Amino acid sequence: MSATSYDAIILGAGAAGLMAALTAGQRGRRVLLVDHAGEPGKKILISGGGRCNFTNIHTAADRYISENPHFARSALARYTPADFLELVNRHSIAWHEKTLGQLFCDGSARQIVEMLMAECRDGGVSFAFGDPVSGVEHADGRYRVMIDGREHQAPSLVLATGGLSIPKMGATGFALDIARKFGLSVVQTRPALVPFTLGEDEALFRSLSGVSADVIARWGKTAFREAALFTHKGLSGPAMLQISSYWQHRTPIEVNFLPDAGTDWLIEEKQARPRSAFRTAIARRLPERLAETLVERLGLDGELSTLRDGALRNAQEKLARWPFHPNGTEGYAKAEVTAGGISTRVLSQKTMEAGKVPGLHAIGEAVDVTGWLGGYNFQWAWASGRAAGEAI
Ligand code: FDA
Repeated sequence: MSATSYDAIILGAGAAGLMAALTAGQRGRRVLLVDHAGEPGKKILISGGGRCNFTNIHTAADRYISENPHFARSALARYTPADFLELVNRHSIAWHEKTLGQLFCDGSARQIVEMLMAECRDGGVSFAFGDPVSGVEHADGRYRVMIDGREHQAPSLVLATGGLSIPKMGATGFALDIARKFGLSVVQTRPALVPFTLGEDEALFRSLSGVSADVIARWGKTAFREAALFTHKGLSGPAMLQISSYWQHRTPIEVNFLPDAGTDWLIEEKQARPRSAFRTAIARRLPERLAETLVERLGLDGELSTLRDGALRNAQEKLARWPFHPNGTEGYAKAEVTAGGISTRVLSQKTMEAGKVPGLHAIGEAVDVTGWLGGYNFQWAWASGRAAGEAI
């Protein structure tokens, strides 16, 4: 049986794999882009509520979590949000900034996939979609990949099959398995950008399902000011998703429900509106159902004039540092990304190549680089894909 030869085989036609393929293809390399799914970029299609938050203009290495926080710096500096925007503009895709530097398509995420596929076609990239990869071997300086009974060979292999999040969309640990097979170390994976679950002690909050509030969520020294959303299982919303990427099991997170209140706000309220009920004062700053639950937990009630300043100060401090004790998360089934992955220690920052396995590269979410919510993960996929695409 004769094998088809390429300069590079890229496993995974998601964000990172598409970018690596179009980059290498347009450099004149013969590239095979492989995916077990029947169509490319399935996560791009569902991202950003179908509008794809394709980058963030505030991209910087400190917005990524990794065992080596400096690793992402080089690739991110060489392929920036402005570079991706230039591509988007060239394809006349309309976009807008939603909030916090997050750029979205005005129309549909499908435009991004179509753009990347058109660029791949310009580069003469070959596609093998819809069949499982049944084997990957390395001998005599060549990688041999078996797909549907056919062998494909190349001196370079790029692992771009993403992380473990949303298995029902076809996510697998394939890149991690191949990395281990070739002796590369893998940082323990965990679900990230994921909702928290609350146990029986905090079940009262689960009854607030659907209520949201602007908060500061804190874990250790890391804090995010965004919306929090109560769900029937626990806590979600951008603030909670962000902090979940840092959280460690069996530790509390702290929520400031009064991010804009001055330190003596409740005492000032007492002076300004002495006849106002404590719960009414709290409900002036928070959704009513949430205010009621918090007041119930604080065990303080009555007219403000009847409450001592010390008790009010104490209540306000509690509302500004409310501890929640998640008993877990909703796991990979609901996680937007996977933290951990192929260790950055074994990869070159410049080419994404594994030093001890020549020709083997890893990019995107499969690597131990996890961005904040808000377009940072796609920017990492584009930047790391570009870095590998320029090297293979
Ligand atoms: P990605 O998962 O995109 O691609 C991997 C590819 O490999 C897939 O096409 C898969 O089919 C294929 N594959 C997997 N196993 C394989 C195997 N065994 N054999 C062959 N192929 C295999 N980020 C962001 O910046 N902005 C946003 O708006 C969003 N929104 C969002 C919404 C939702 C619901 C999720 C789940 C995630 C996001 N993200 C996001 C995160 C973002 O989607 C993610 O970080 C990137 O898609 C990662 O790109 P990769 O190319 O590394 O993996």
